[in-house]
Amino acid sequence: MTSPALTLPKAELHLHVEGTLEPELAFELAARNGVRLPFDSVEELRAAYRFTDLQSFLDLYYACMDVLRTREDFRDLAAAYLRRAAAEGVRHAELFFDAQAHAARGVPYAEIVAGLREALDDAARQGVTGGLILCFLRDAPVEEAEAVWAEAKQSPGELLGVGLDSAEVGHRVGPFAHIFGEARELGLHAVAHAGEEGGADYVWEALRELGAERIDHGIRSLEDPELVRHLAEEHVPLTVCPFSNVRLRAVDTLADHPLPAMLAAGLHVTVNSDDPAYFGGYAGENLAAVAEQFGLGRAELALLARNSVTGSFAPEARRRELL
Ligand code: ADE
Ligand code: ZN
Repeated sequence: MTSPALTLPKAELHLHVEGTLEPELAFELAARNGVRLPFDSVEELRAAYRFTDLQSFLDLYYACMDVLRTREDFRDLAAAYLRRAAAEGVRHAELFFDAQAHAARGVPYAEIVAGLREALDDAARQGVTGGLILCFLRDAPVEEAEAVWAEAKQSPGELLGVGLDSAEVGHRVGPFAHIFGEARELGLHAVAHAGEEGGADYVWEALRELGAERIDHGIRSLEDPELVRHLAEEHVPLTVCPFSNVRLRAVDTLADHPLPAMLAAGLHVTVNSDDPAYFGGYAGENLAAVAEQFGLGRAELALLARNSVTGSFAPEARRRELL
C-alpha cells in the first residue's frame, strides 16, 4: 500500500528551486549552455554530496547553479520539480529562488521570473497551485539585495513574498529590515530562515525586525521556552526540513530530530524538503521518513499535511479545497 505520506494532499512551503537541480539535469543544462561543471560525471557530482555543515553544502549549491542561464533553464528546472512533487501529493508549492546569485552571473531577473512562472502556470492547469518567494542572501552585501529588490518591486504581483536564506550564523537580519518593510507595504508576505544553525535569538530577530510570518527551519527555537510559547500562541508556521537537518549535521541522525518535541510543544510544524536533489528526498519522502522514524499515525500525518495548507499563502478558497 502506498504510504499516506505520499498521497495526502499537502503544500510545500520550504523549497529552493535551485536545490531541485538533479545531477542529470545539471549536466544537460551545462551542455546546452556551454558551461563546465567542476565534475566529470553525474556519479562524480553525486559523490560530492557529503556535507559537514550548511556552508559546505552552499559551496556546492552555488557552484552547480552556474548552469542556470536562460528562461528555458528556469522553466525546465521548476517544471521537473513540480511534476515530481505532484506525484507525491503536493498540491500547492511556494518556491524560493535566489535571483541575487544569478544576477552575479548576469542572468536578468525578468528571465528567471518568466521561466519559473511559465512552469507554475502549466502546473496550475494540472491542479498544482503555487507562487514565488524571492530570497535575499544574508551573507552577501546588502547592496546586492537592494539591486535585485529595486527591480523586483517594479512588479510585486509576480511574487508571493520575500525571504532570507544562505549562511546564517554571524549574518544578522538588521541590514535587510528596510527591504522587508517595503515588501510588506507592497502587500508581500515575509519569511526568513532562522534557527537552522543559529540559536533562538536569530528566530526572535526574524520575527521582530523582518516581520517574518513563517520561520524556515526554526528547529533551535526549542532552546528558548519563551520563544516556544510565543510561536505556539501566535501560530507561527515553522517549515521544518528533516533530511536537510540530518545531511547538514544540524542534528546527528533522524532519530535525534526535534520534530516530535516541536509537535508536543504545540508548534505549527510543517514538513518540507529544502534542497531535495541534494538531501535524498522530496516532500513526501521526508514525511514518510519521519512517520516511520517516530511512529506517526494517520492522524499525525493528517495534522502535518493540514498544517502545510493552513501555513501556506494560498488564497482562502484554495486552502479550503485542500483541507
Ligand atoms: N539555501 C539553500 N538551502 C538553504 C538552507 N538550508 N539554509 C540556508 N540557505 C539555503
Ligand atoms: Zn532552506
